[in-house]
Amino acid sequence: SIERTLSILKPNAVAKNAIGAIYARFESAGFTLVAAKMLHLTREQAEGFYAEHQGKPFFDGLVGFMISGPVMVQVLESENAVHRHRDIMGATNPANALAGTLRADYADSFTENAVHGSDSTESAAREIAYFFSDNEICPRTR
Ligand code: CMP
Repeated sequence: SIERTLSILKPNAVAKNAIGAIYARFESAGFTLVAAKMLHLTREQAEGFYAEHQGKPFFDGLVGFMISGPVMVQVLESENAVHRHRDIMGATNPANALAGTLRADYADSFTENAVHGSDSTESAAREIAYFFSDNEICPRTR
């Protein structure tokens, strides 16, 4: 079925001037962008977004990284969007990311893995609502 997923280009991907290249990959892969914004997250925004990871050993480093520069946050729509976005991102640990995936090409480390994507349709609904109000979602009309 047609789904939406929440995608974030992390500060290292933005710092590499790779926004356009990565958006081109999304579009070539058949995703429709239905919302997008650039944000420099506050610590509170980053901690809230990653609340499920609070207390894990990588949490403080992850939050510090995510607030180190601007991010691009976007909503991608396609058939089976959650899984298809995860496929083109590659494995969370870039050491395991297949050639040709976004993380193989743009990640610097497990934490600085260039891209975030929702891991389920339930997460996608929560994560999309975390960053976008309904009137910021722009379904295509042509
Ligand atoms: P992301 O998809 O943004 O979701 C949570 C992030 O935490 C994940 O990508 C990684 O960047 C980071 N992360 C998860 N597990 C580890 C780990 N074991 N070591 C370092 N970073 C991790």
